[in-house]
Amino acid sequence: MGTKGRAIVGMKVERVVELLSKAFADEWLAYYQYWIGTKVIAGPMKDAVIAELMQHATDELRHADMVSNRIIQLGGTPLTTPKKWFEMTNCGYDEPSDPFVRKILEQNIKGEQCAISVYHALIEEVGMKDPVTYNMTVQILQDEVEHEEDLQAMLEDLDMMLERRA
Ligand SMILES: [Fe+2]
Ligand SMILES: [Fe+2]
Repeated sequence: MGTKGRAIVGMKVERVVELLSKAFADEWLAYYQYWIGTKVIAGPMKDAVIAELMQHATDELRHADMVSNRIIQLGGTPLTTPKKWFEMTNCGYDEPSDPFVRKILEQNIKGEQCAISVYHALIEEVGMKDPVTYNMTVQILQDEVEHEEDLQAMLEDLDMMLERRA
């Protein structure tokens, strides 16, 4: 299916699928990291941070959906077991073992910075050889840049608050 759509890809389709599968693993792990973060988080500004983390979780799940649809269009199969997430991930998983708001924010900022690097590299490699993947990746990258900005702004607010209290 989608034979012409696949034929216009000017690089090895398997390579595009491999890059997308790795990003797919990242998105699921990012989703879970955000989601579980909202459950365990503790400390000042907790409610505002939870609302932000939940929004990001929703975005990461939407990204997983976008990436999986593209994998299928290219004739691949999205990873069928969570076990593979850990084998394929670029950015890994940061367990929120310390529930303090600041620590959770820092972990997720690190995750977003990794995602930005990964999608940026993907865009560079794929370029106009695969405009459909390129376009999707640019959309996702825009979200990840926004996510980093949101979290860093929250961290700034939190630090200002903590300083004033001290
Ligand atoms: Fe994402
Ligand atoms: Fe993100």
